[in-house]
Amino acid sequence: MDLLSQIQPEKLPQHLAIIMDGNGRWAKQQGMLRAFGHENGTKSVRRTVEACARLGIPNLTLYAFSTENWNRPKLEVDMLMKLLIGALKKELKTLTQNDIKLNAIGNLDTLPAKVKKELSDVMEKTSGNKRMTLTLALSYGSREELTRAIREISALVKNNIISTGSIDESIINQHLYTQNLPDVDLLIRTSGEHRISNFLLWQIAYAELYFTDVLWPDFKEEDLYQAIISYQTRERRFGKTSEQIK
Ligand code: IPE
Ligand code: IPE
Ligand code: MG
Repeated sequence: MDLLSQIQPEKLPQHLAIIMDGNGRWAKQQGMLRAFGHENGTKSVRRTVEACARLGIPNLTLYAFSTENWNRPKLEVDMLMKLLIGALKKELKTLTQNDIKLNAIGNLDTLPAKVKKELSDVMEKTSGNKRMTLTLALSYGSREELTRAIREISALVKNNIISTGSIDESIINQHLYTQNLPDVDLLIRTSGEHRISNFLLWQIAYAELYFTDVLWPDFKEEDLYQAIISYQTRERRFGKTSEQIK
């Protein structure tokens, strides 16, 4: 049966996050360099973004570059940054046509000036778009995000703007890069790795996790639909009993 028709529109995740992994292994399988995998990964990005917008998922967050990824060979990092600049330039049209707003999370100051410029340009040009918010996690690490939040909140306490006792989950949320986003409902990781790799640790507290062996450049609409169908069959109890939420 057609997968798309099995998706229940009223039960869509309000925030889908994806750890796009496996570009390097995909390239190796083809006897090609890692760069080839990354290039083909951008095609999956476009496919996935458009499919999510069509489905009506309001928030999509993609892990594109982690704080740890800075430790890769310089040649690969430079290549990824170049690819990002190119993709931002090219995809402005796709974002505009699909009424998608671009957002970015992470330690953006550490990105090369050209990336920052292209990023802020596309974010500004798409800021009025309403259908979906696409968030790119760039130079993103959850521990860096939490450290920064703790530093900011400590400064507020030190300057007597808030008291220690008033620090609650909502204040912490307000100091995260994701302050304007709801909690993650569904987290997908491709390439068969079963780990989180420093991604949205706070925000996935109650997310449903979905792992697939598919390598990111091979990730198609059908793989996305399958993940959503799996998500929709799960009972999200949030600590309660099954009877309580029926
Ligand atoms: C994911 O693919 C892309 C980034 C992390 C930038 P990888 O480059 O991690 O691919 P593998 O894991 O080596 O196959
Ligand atoms: C996670 O993938 C980061 C991104 C997808 C951007 P990695 O390939 O860097 O993760 P590890 O190091 O294998 O956990
Ligand atoms: Mg990887």
